Amino acid sequence: MSARREYALTELLPKFEISELDRPICLQQELGTEFVVIDFGSGMGDHATKLAANNHNIGVLAIDVHTVGLLQVAEEATRLELTNICTHHGDGMDVFKNWLQFGSIDEIHILFPDPWPKARHHKRRLISPLLLEMAHNLLKPSGRIVFVTDAEDYFESAKSIIEEFGKFTITLDDWEIPVTNYHQRALRLQHKISQLSARKS
Ligand SMILES: C[S@@+](CC[C@H](N)C(=O)[O-])C[C@H]1O[C@@H](n2cnc3c(N)ncnc32)[C@H](O)[C@@H]1O
Repeated sequence: MSARREYALTELLPKFEISELDRPICLQQELGTEFVVIDFGSGMGDHATKLAANNHNIGVLAIDVHTVGLLQVAEEATRLELTNICTHHGDGMDVFKNWLQFGSIDEIHILFPDPWPKARHHKRRLISPLLLEMAHNLLKPSGRIVFVTDAEDYFESAKSIIEEFGKFTITLDDWEIPVTNYHQRALRLQHKISQLSARKS
């Protein structure tokens, strides 16, 4: 590991990590913003960092099971002296269970989640009744999930799961999709990109 990466891992990232905070965590208080967004599966962290850097009135929690992108978030947020971004290195489902104050989140961004294309792996897909139940608890009354994918069958099945869940109102194509790493890849591969908003109802 390079010295720079080691420094980011041991010195910078812990300053943004939320796992040691008293629970339930109030992200509004931690980030100093009324509006709070969770980037679930933040990948290389480009979306989370840009969102926080360009909107100081938006607080952002970036979650990923891998550190590589979170290190970039920590480095960039340190360089830009951002106080409106935090991170969790680990499973977002843990965070969603009981770490955060209920009714406190404005938006949950799920951008290009792992598609798990093989039928026997579909159960690993993120969009599930369990995730929807936890997201519903966390969102403010008018909060929403934004879901973007280039896997057409995942989009259709996620839409059905959300419709069957019954506690969200779906709107199609009402969001300017940020250009993340996986968005760029989907464009390169000329994949169809689909998106929906699921607003708490
Ligand atoms: C296909 S990538 C998309 C990354 C990014 N959103 C983008 O658009 O470039 C999916 C990301 O979700 C992360 N991920 C998958 N399951 C997760 C979970 N349960 N909790 C947190 N991150 C997760 C993966 O590590 C990976 O970085």
